[in-house]
Amino acid sequence: MRSIVLVVAAVGCVLLAGCSAVSPVVHSGGPVTIAFGACCHQDKEQPIWEAIVAADPDLFIFAGDNIYGDTEDMAVLRAKYDALAAVPGYQRLLDTCPILAVYDDHDFGLNDGGREYPMRAESAAMCLDFFGVAAEDPRRGHEGVYGATVTGEPGRRVQVILLDTRYFRDPLDADPRSLSEKSAANVVGWYQPTADRTRTLLGEAQWRWLGEELRKDADVRLVVSSVQVVPNEKGMECWGNMPHERTALFDLIESTGAQGVVFLSGDVHFAEISRTDEGPYPLYDFTSSGLTQSPDPTWHQSVNSFRRPGMVHREQSFGVVQVDWDGDGTQLRLQARTLNGKVAFEEIVPLRSLK
Ligand SMILES: [Fe+2]
Repeated sequence: MRSIVLVVAAVGCVLLAGCSAVSPVVHSGGPVTIAFGACCHQDKEQPIWEAIVAADPDLFIFAGDNIYGDTEDMAVLRAKYDALAAVPGYQRLLDTCPILAVYDDHDFGLNDGGREYPMRAESAAMCLDFFGVAAEDPRRGHEGVYGATVTGEPGRRVQVILLDTRYFRDPLDADPRSLSEKSAANVVGWYQPTADRTRTLLGEAQWRWLGEELRKDADVRLVVSSVQVVPNEKGMECWGNMPHERTALFDLIESTGAQGVVFLSGDVHFAEISRTDEGPYPLYDFTSSGLTQSPDPTWHQSVNSFRRPGMVHREQSFGVVQVDWDGDGTQLRLQARTLNGKVAFEEIVPLRSLK
């Protein structure tokens, strides 16, 4: 029997990829297994789905770049979503578990794009449509695709918070350094932190909503951000490009008293686990972003002083968060798994450390 049973909620339901509306969940005991991943090119072979289905997850979360749309033509974007839908392995996933999703830049429609993308409303609607979000879902009532669900019984509640890091995001500052200067610093990206504190990543309405969500009762909170939250040195897109927003996120976790937060992220084409002590307790950022994409030869070696020792994997992979419920001894297993289902790395986090 599955450890999670999905039930359709009258309100506040989440999505179900390619199918019906999502929903809070009832646990019937045993561990909870949540798989996630990002960076899935619709035209590439996608053998990773076999390993994901074999892991028998209770839920799969798409953390962005779920297709490579990169267009302002909504017919083209739809055709690329349809290409994903036609992948046999993906169809088997649909038969296996519910799917939650947020977009990143490529499926939003513009490489490294934000609020300036002219088709953002249409793209957000298409994302919700593709992943089967019901008409009564709260995400249909606001701009962007952010949303959340809390599932489980008291003491075993899992909250999934899906952030929209694209729809409202202000422009980024380019890094003026030369290639050789960046190379000397092991920086592989194109951006630098801005000093402009008026710029936003989430936008006012989403920030307000996030505060409300973090105040809800939950034991484990998986906060999905398509771009990395904790690592901020690579020069790639990340919360660190708006340092005041990154700090505000950590401060909000503290001021709301939200325990059990773990960030899940994508975008960078490899897997790693990072941790910072900048929040009220150790904050982990588990990045899994190689469903089909492999990184540029140097990206996985780029600077990240937050990276946990040994917690990096370059080849195609997906992430697993397994919650082993045991009262005060409850543990989170954060695993990167390979194409053949092997564990590439694993970090075990005692839930009591996340408070
Ligand atoms: Fe991306």
